Amino acid sequence: MEENETLLSEAKKDADAAETSRALYEVKMTYLGRTGKISALLQKMKDAAKEDRPALGKKINDLRMKLEAHFEALEEKIKQRELEYKLKHERIDVTMPGKRKREGVLHPVTRVKNELIDVFAGMGFEIYEGPEIENEYYNFTALNTPADHPARDMQDTFYVTDEFLLRTQTSAAQIRVMEKKKPPIKILSPGRVFRSDDDATHSPMFHQMEGLVVDKGITLCDLQGMLDEFARSVFSDSSKTRLRPSYFPFTEPSVEVDVSCASCGGKGCSLCKGTGWIEVLGAGMVNRRVLENCGVDPDVYTGFAFGMGIERIAMLKYGINNIKLLTENDVRFLEQFKD
Ligand code: PHE
Repeated sequence: MEENETLLSEAKKDADAAETSRALYEVKMTYLGRTGKISALLQKMKDAAKEDRPALGKKINDLRMKLEAHFEALEEKIKQRELEYKLKHERIDVTMPGKRKREGVLHPVTRVKNELIDVFAGMGFEIYEGPEIENEYYNFTALNTPADHPARDMQDTFYVTDEFLLRTQTSAAQIRVMEKKKPPIKILSPGRVFRSDDDATHSPMFHQMEGLVVDKGITLCDLQGMLDEFARSVFSDSSKTRLRPSYFPFTEPSVEVDVSCASCGGKGCSLCKGTGWIEVLGAGMVNRRVLENCGVDPDVYTGFAFGMGIERIAMLKYGINNIKLLTENDVRFLEQFKD
């Protein structure tokens, strides 16, 4: 009996001290839980004399009921208190402005690259990406660029070792593709290239997009047709192209390709320096020596290749006057390229 009384008052004391419903629950379990103190009392009943057991059982049961009632009342109180606290502190002001998430945008070089891939993929080109570290064979020799050619000079090319270098042009990929694949070939090769060059329109690292088509009966007309399509998609519906004779060791004939100035429509302005035309890329018919170097019979197959600077296209398209803006990562600049 006495034990019961102390247990009851202890339990009440512990329960009253609990401040949260979680704490109260824990106290409740130490008394009323399956391994709690009340259960322990019931266990002990086994030791009592048989005739005393019913009376004892009733006492313990009374105690349990009293405790249950006490806990219930407290639970109700604590819940009420917790609810009041929540209502007071977790109020939401639906008129407050939301937290704005700043969305990133694609870099102009990435945008132009994707756009070019879309245009040429639409004409059936596949993508092939070559390595950025090349050897002299792929970057120069196989491209019919002799050992004494000035482009090989240390001043233009970053050499890693005597033999290996950072590729100066994606044209190296032409060789890798033709070595592996027999015509018909129609590939597009985007990627980074490196040259020791640095001013407002040149940077030591930039991106190129190479195109290569090899098949029976490919002519310069096919090249111009595809480039017209490219100019209309990337610049404006009324863009035209013009081919001027030029020289690259790996193409013969070689051409420099101009696009009519989208800014003045060809009338002549400061952007096109009054000429109405803007130079955008180099191209030409694949030199038969290059085909031979790759085991392609130049009497059966012909091809064309072109290479354009992605930064240059981006600068023309968006009116960017300094190539450095493309690598400085100034958010104020980059943010302007939202769709
Ligand atoms: N590789 C040349 C350059 O970097 C461009 C080019 C590519 C010219 C393909 C002709 C054919 O200037």
